[in-house]
Amino acid sequence: MLIRVTDPHEPLSSEITPRSTYLIRPTRREALLTLGLAAASLPSLAQPEVHGGGKLPKLTTVRSGVAGSMVMDKPTSYADATSYNNFYEFGTDKSDPASYAHTLKTRPWTVSVEGECAKPMRFDIETLLKLSAMEDRIYRLRCVEGWSMVVPWVGYSLAEVIKKVEPTSKAKYVEFTSLADKAQMPGVRSGVLDWPYVEGLRMDEAMHPLAMLVFGMYGEVLPNQNGAPLRLALPWKYGFKSAKSIVKIRLLEKEPVSSWTKAAQQEYGFYSNVNPNVPHPRWSQASERRIGEDGLFAKKRPTLMFNGYEPQVGQLYAGMDLKKFY
Ligand code: MTE
Repeated sequence: MLIRVTDPHEPLSSEITPRSTYLIRPTRREALLTLGLAAASLPSLAQPEVHGGGKLPKLTTVRSGVAGSMVMDKPTSYADATSYNNFYEFGTDKSDPASYAHTLKTRPWTVSVEGECAKPMRFDIETLLKLSAMEDRIYRLRCVEGWSMVVPWVGYSLAEVIKKVEPTSKAKYVEFTSLADKAQMPGVRSGVLDWPYVEGLRMDEAMHPLAMLVFGMYGEVLPNQNGAPLRLALPWKYGFKSAKSIVKIRLLEKEPVSSWTKAAQQEYGFYSNVNPNVPHPRWSQASERRIGEDGLFAKKRPTLMFNGYEPQVGQLYAGMDLKKFY
């Protein structure tokens, strides 16, 4: 998401593919069980098998019970999800993070959670890894640049950590800060963004069960290029809201200013919800290119409101003018 480039993927309105559907698996399963059907007779609701690269430690997981945390779209291949990345601390080319993020030291690692709360805490990564059960969740990730992926993340709801510090009634927003260390991150020596990388959410967004604190993907710990040792996954927002390699979480009374808003306010607003009806000032957001489906004749997919998570998150924005609060 460089600031002064023209759109390489201007979508055509004719490029419409059938709406992808998603399935709230646990809910349907529960419904069937309520009807008295034995588990063995349930129709197969299995997700495709997802494998990591096999080089990183595995994480023990349970299936998530959060509504909307499993989409039926085919997951992006591990090779694509770990080699086509945005992580400007390691350079602006999509291949830079995979080439250079090996210099990132992910141990020891601490995350301070502070601000408007009764019990500010400094969490060691090992403590965070054990704070709640690690869940498998398959989320769509839609980048503001016009491409998308489907990633099986491992982690738990961000709310689990926020609750621990006991937010005060003044805590209306949450700010996330990524590591910015020139010694480990060559991109931080450039002026492409005002470091450190900062992102923000409204408190109710951060407490929404779909807002995920991620420690792994494809059943393994996160590769450095994907934001090790912990990052966010906010599936209804453009990918840049999902800050990587987080070191600080601050609860605030006032809306924080994100790095992208600082860089180009007209282009990147605070909310940045996926919205096919609100174009980026320089390109449409009506459709997207799914990474891995980009053959010569591959059709683009229509972008869904809130990236397809409207039933889960739409209420958060009831009555808001989403053209104004983009
Ligand atoms: N976090 C930090 N710290 N630095 C970044 O440059 N890029 C964002 C987001 N988080 C970014 C970041 C953008 S633009 C996207 S699309 C996603 O990370 C990409 O996540 P992925 O590489 O795991 O697909």
